[in-house]
Amino acid sequence: MKQLRVAVLGMGYVGLTSGIAFAKHGIRSICTTTTPGKAENLNNGVPPFYEPGLEELLKEMVNEGMLSGSSDNVDAVRQSDITFICVGTPPLQDGSADLSAIEATARDIGVALRDMDNYHVVVAKSTIPPGTTENLILPTVEKYAGKKVGENFGLCMNPEFLRQGSAVYDVINPDRIVIGEYDEKSGDVLEYIYRDYDCPKIRCEIRAAELIKYAANSLLATKISFANEFSRICEKFNVDVYEVMKGVGLDFRINPRFLNAGCGFGGSCFPKDVNAIAALSKKIGVETPLLDSVLYTNELQPMHFVELIKNAAGSLEGKVVAFLGLSFKPNTGDTRETRALPIIEKLYEMGARVKAYDPKAIENFKLSTDLPIEYFEKWEEALRGADLAVVQSDWKEIRDITADDFKRLLRNPIVVDGRRTYDPEELINNGVKYLGIGWKNRLNLARP
Ligand code: UGA
Repeated sequence: MKQLRVAVLGMGYVGLTSGIAFAKHGIRSICTTTTPGKAENLNNGVPPFYEPGLEELLKEMVNEGMLSGSSDNVDAVRQSDITFICVGTPPLQDGSADLSAIEATARDIGVALRDMDNYHVVVAKSTIPPGTTENLILPTVEKYAGKKVGENFGLCMNPEFLRQGSAVYDVINPDRIVIGEYDEKSGDVLEYIYRDYDCPKIRCEIRAAELIKYAANSLLATKISFANEFSRICEKFNVDVYEVMKGVGLDFRINPRFLNAGCGFGGSCFPKDVNAIAALSKKIGVETPLLDSVLYTNELQPMHFVELIKNAAGSLEGKVVAFLGLSFKPNTGDTRETRALPIIEKLYEMGARVKAYDPKAIENFKLSTDLPIEYFEKWEEALRGADLAVVQSDWKEIRDITADDFKRLLRNPIVVDGRRTYDPEELINNGVKYLGIGWKNRLNLARP
């Protein structure tokens, strides 16, 4: 087969990093966007968001001529053999996915295919509800192209499993590739694109591929909520939940990952996807008590964390809280569904003031609230003179803060840890009062 070229429609985390990964694997890629200025920036080596390793690799791929940006979907498709749809599917008010960008790109693909002679494969990569590829993308492309799927063009669904914060590594080194195919020919072309990727490849029906993505995210979110529920049980027994989950996770049928208890999961995926599949299932008459509980636990957990903060502070009235970490997890500036928001809102409701630190997420977080938070780009400034410190996201910069730093800068050396950022014993032995999710807080509270 000849050297194939790829168009990637959408320049978010999935689109841009997929384009870069293809380029890195020797496949020439054009990434498109509808946001003004973004394509020019890409061509000048400037990434649209922060992600470790992204800027360097992007520059390298652009300089080698393997990756380029464009604002013209139709033109990008015309220059390619395969088109990946990677546009956003944000949640609507009722929790279901907004598919308007999917429809618009399918239309552009159809327009491009109308006067193309070569066989083209259309691949949906965005997270989309089961049925969307066949019931929305397929008829839209056929209508605007005036051509038939299976004859003039192929169709696949190929979910993405990258994690923000390690997106570049994940897309270049996936642990599996799922190819949902309309027919064998479409799947063969997509498998050929991935021929150099060293991981298991699963070929299945399109709707199965769509559901694999929702099921995978739902199970990961379930593991987290499970660990979080146990964190509250463990606290009552004065047992360390991390010790318990270590003992649980060493069972090879379970594995230790995603059993880290904390103040809840955030981000643009778990809350949105679990909500969407639960809402969709109910619409078609399937009850989802397990998924509903996963989401409910995730609402309880930040409020439980606020209780810990209150216990540590005595009362929150008039207290100044140094709040460490605003992003939904470390190594990203993304604040979508971050647990920082409900926690900070509750702290203000209870009479506290917040001095917040984050290495990358301050600007994004400011867009989500008008509360009179003081923002600091240096953790020392956020800690200085505050009554206690609270950790919501365990960036390395935050992990590296020592007991001496807390003692030197805080009015009272109290740390309330929402992510098991520190070794509790180490802080306690060095004179810091430590409370944390899933830690033996009762013993700790009893200490003078
Ligand atoms: C998640 C999945 O991990 C990816 O496989 C998937 O591709 C992606 O969603 C998506 O659908 O696009 P992401 O949201 O980037 O990735 O980040 P995660 O590392 O999964 O973390 C999500 C949230 O769960 C964070 O708030 C994190 O702090 C929390 N978490 C994670 C825990 O509380 N405990 C854990 O053990 C792991």
